[in-house]
Amino acid sequence: MIDIAEYDIFDYDYSKYWENRRYENLAEKNVLNKIFLKKAGYWFLDIGGSYGRLTSTYYESYNKPIILDYSLKTLIKNKEYIKAKYPGVELVAANAYKMPFKKDTFDGALMVRVIHHIEKTDTYFKELNRIMKNGSSYIQEFPNKIHIKAVLRSLLKLNFDLFKEDPYLQPKATGSEGSKKQYDHIFYNYHPKYISRLLKKNNFKILKKYGCSYLRSPLIKKILGEDVMLFAEKILQSTLSWTNIPPSIFLDTKITKKGKKGEIPHNLISVLACPSCKGNLLFKREDLAICEKCSKEFHKKEEIWDFRVN
Ligand SMILES: C[S@@+](CC[C@H](N)C(=O)[O-])C[C@H]1O[C@@H](n2cnc3c(N)ncnc32)[C@H](O)[C@@H]1O
Ligand SMILES: [Zn+2]
Repeated sequence: MIDIAEYDIFDYDYSKYWENRRYENLAEKNVLNKIFLKKAGYWFLDIGGSYGRLTSTYYESYNKPIILDYSLKTLIKNKEYIKAKYPGVELVAANAYKMPFKKDTFDGALMVRVIHHIEKTDTYFKELNRIMKNGSSYIQEFPNKIHIKAVLRSLLKLNFDLFKEDPYLQPKATGSEGSKKQYDHIFYNYHPKYISRLLKKNNFKILKKYGCSYLRSPLIKKILGEDVMLFAEKILQSTLSWTNIPPSIFLDTKITKKGKKGEIPHNLISVLACPSCKGNLLFKREDLAICEKCSKEFHKKEEIWDFRVN
């Protein structure tokens, strides 16, 4: 069984996925623009942020956004574009289970279209709790296991497994998000109650729930066209967000934990820590960091720190 959905193995270019999905892309940005309009802070983390598809939604709200992704190839390929479009944004290659940051660093964080690749959800949320500041904002998107189409399908088959709260592993697909049929893959759908419990257990309080992509269907796209869909989507988002109808749900959450308020560090090096043991890093050269505690070495590759550990 694999641990991480490694997009680099198959050279999967995620930006291509979005070429014919204007409706889905703008539906998500509509939710995030609304959420981030009311947020502000210094350090911000886009976990599994890939090529920065969503950076426009949080860039104005936070002083120092970081895009973290396990796919170093994606970060290298898109770094010029991201840095030109969003000056000041930092790119870091790392594993969401073991993030290379000091505790109590972030004022805000976001995870969209990534949790389906996160099998050890408890490990991830513990790690997230560690790096977030007391009172900070965390936005979690997840693929909803009990969306309306899935419910109708299950009822027709008289199969009621869908209503169990445990995660549902999607069947293997070819060419989908870096997976190939003959290989193991990680692609889960989650029950809203499962995600709520996880968040609560790790001190994240849900402030507001937003539904998204209500009309996600190739047939509807053919009949209505994307402009009409987007118009209808906005109405559905503002009227039906309390339901579990849509395939994708966004949760605006706030974490409450112990933690002292301190000085805000202003450069990347001062918020970094060893991803393995969380020890202090010594920056020996501009492109080499060594952990004081476990002596692990980390390198910058094509100007991007590679802190990936498993
Ligand atoms: C479907 S893409 C979503 C990208 C972006 N959040 C968006 O919505 O446009 C999933 C991303 O998560 C990254 N990813 C998967 N597992 C990861 C992990 N354990 N740690 C860090 N990144 C991970 C992949 O490399 C990929 O770039
Ligand atoms: Zn270490």
